[in-house]
Amino acid sequence: MLKIGNVRCDDLLEACGSPLYVYDEAKIEMQLEAYKRHFKSDLFATEIIYASKAFACVALLERLAEFDCSLDIVSGGELAVAKKAKFDPHKIYFHGNNKSDEELRMALAYQVKTVVIDNLFEAEKIIQLSQELHQQVHVLLRINPKVEAHTHEYIMTATSDSKFGISIDQQADILHILQQLQASETVVFDGFHSHIGSQIFEEHAFIAAIDKMVAFTKEIKQQAKIAIPVLNIGGGFGVRYTDADVPLSTSAMCNALISAIETACKTYAIHFDKVCMEPGRSIVGEAGYTLYKIGFIKETENKKFAFIDGGMADNIRPALYDAHYACDIANKMSEAKNEVYEIAGKCCESGDIMIHGAALPKVESQDILVVYTTGAYGYSMASNYNRLNRPAVVFVKDGSVRQVLRRETYEDQLCLDVSKSVSI
Ligand code: LLP
Repeated sequence: MLKIGNVRCDDLLEACGSPLYVYDEAKIEMQLEAYKRHFKSDLFATEIIYASKAFACVALLERLAEFDCSLDIVSGGELAVAKKAKFDPHKIYFHGNNKSDEELRMALAYQVKTVVIDNLFEAEKIIQLSQELHQQVHVLLRINPKVEAHTHEYIMTATSDSKFGISIDQQADILHILQQLQASETVVFDGFHSHIGSQIFEEHAFIAAIDKMVAFTKEIKQQAKIAIPVLNIGGGFGVRYTDADVPLSTSAMCNALISAIETACKTYAIHFDKVCMEPGRSIVGEAGYTLYKIGFIKETENKKFAFIDGGMADNIRPALYDAHYACDIANKMSEAKNEVYEIAGKCCESGDIMIHGAALPKVESQDILVVYTTGAYGYSMASNYNRLNRPAVVFVKDGSVRQVLRRETYEDQLCLDVSKSVSI
């Protein structure tokens, strides 16, 4: 029987029900430690900002705080989790291309230190709000460095017409925004941010973006005659879903990035007080597993299906991005994998296939299927499609189990049904 964090998978399902998201806490800690240890330089301070869109819950944010990590949020909902975890607002970065007035006010009320501005309208809004509330706000400006990296088109962010940030080539617009920010007494411009996409393996894409951003910062600094103490290079570091994915180790990736930043600083004769990065997937991805119970088995003319008690509602990635995952039968780990199955979810959608052509031992009803590397963008993108309840989440470590998000109930869903007249 497969064990995660030294706990048997059958015991986990027995105690917490199926399907179940399981995080091996030690793996999360290993990643945090690796980033902390290796993303370091003698030339500038560094900051690791966890992108909470990958997975956010109070227990995780509390662990991040213990590791002195900062937090990237993109919505009022992610801020609500941060608030519940009592996350230090000085370490929160508020991202997003269309933050609402309400979200911005909520962030300022919580004293969130830095807002990452996406566009001119947002810059004007922040200036107005910080003035109105007599509150100092630090800002970064998101730049699209136009460096294309190989990943799924839905998660590319640095193509010419990306909806994120301002193109590095729209210098007049950027200078105009900086002028507005400089004129404000309450807004403090700290520097530029860029993020080129997600699940990227090629360090040369990151290095190209770093080179462009450092050269660009130098040029703007000279033109606008302002201090630009911070550079944020974003996240996007790839993880291993299947054997086809070969990511660099975290230490090797950090070393490559640090050396690229140091080289660019020397080349362009510029100094940063601080350089930040924003990993999400690579911190929680490989630490996460989803356990399912096998239900019915079906043979069609050409295929054998094994049905699981979850599917696209708890993991939309195969249906949305054609993402590939590896799996095992947790209770048949030592058996030969002589059969091939379509692992299909229970949603009413032909596209609800978790894994195509999975090599497995003979699968039977009540077997436990484990899908690997579901820790990022699994729970955070889960839905109630077909009114399925979202599974519980447990953290396991050294043989002990802690439930950190309880399973949703039908009552949770039904409490939204109301019949209330609305006065207009
Ligand atoms: N910073 C910014 C500004 C971002 O937009 C993102 C991810 C990150 C950091 C973290 O990227 P990571 O290190 O996790 O790759 N739902 C997609 C991924 C969308 C990523 C969105 N932004 C997926 O399931 O593959």
